[in-house]
Order: sequence, then C-alpha cells, then structure tokens
Amino acid sequence: MRLTLNGRAVSLDVVGTRRLLDVLREDLHLTGTKEGCGEGECGACSVLIDGEVVDSCLIAVGQVEGRAVTTVEGLAVGGRLTALQQAFIEHGAAQCGICTRGAGGTRRESVPLYGLYENH
Ligand code: FES
Repeated sequence: MRLTLNGRAVSLDVVGTRRLLDVLREDLHLTGTKEGCGEGECGACSVLIDGEVVDSCLIAVGQVEGRAVTTVEGLAVGGRLTALQQAFIEHGAAQCGICTRGAGGTRRESVPLYGLYENH
C-alpha cells in the first residue's frame, strides 16, 4: 500500500488490518505517536489524516491507503520547530511526554493550536 507520510511518498508491505498506531511506531519507528488508552479517549495517538485529527489507535492502516498522514514528527518544517513546539520545550510543558502531541497540536480540542503550528 502507498501513502504520503509527513510529506513523503511511502510504500508499505503490511497487513491492512493492523492499527495505524502500531505500524507508525513498530514499522516506521515514528515513536512520537504514543499509545495511552488504546480506545480513543486520550489523544496520545493523534495524527492528521488529510488534515483531520484522527486517533491512530482506532484506525486500520489499510484505511489510509492513498491518503496523507502527518505525525508529530512531521509538524516541524525544514527541521525548524514551530513556535508552539519551542514554547513547550522552553516551559517544560512536556512533563512525561505521553500526551504532548495531543495537548500541543493534534487533539480535537486543540485544533486551534494546530493552526499555530501551521502558521509559525
Ligand atoms: S491511545 Fe488514547 S486515543 Fe488512542
């Protein structure tokens, strides 16, 4: 299957019923996407699919064929942190880090914050 991952074309040989979360972490080593609850409640596994926030623990990788997936690793442009990412670092907002991608930009309630990522 093929998809666009963090702006790059990717070809995967995986069973389509596996969770997107597991393929991101185990096969693609994008460990910024975390598993918290594993049942769509915490947002630790949030990614963007075609610009929409999705809990990657609830979606099969086969469902993202031909689509654009963005993980927390793909938010910085040209390796440059966004203003919000930098602020998280400077103020120690990450704590244990499990919920950072949710609190900092990809959780549904934080969509306006995602706009900060997009605009800075
Ligand atoms: S791990 Fe909690 S919403 Fe996916």
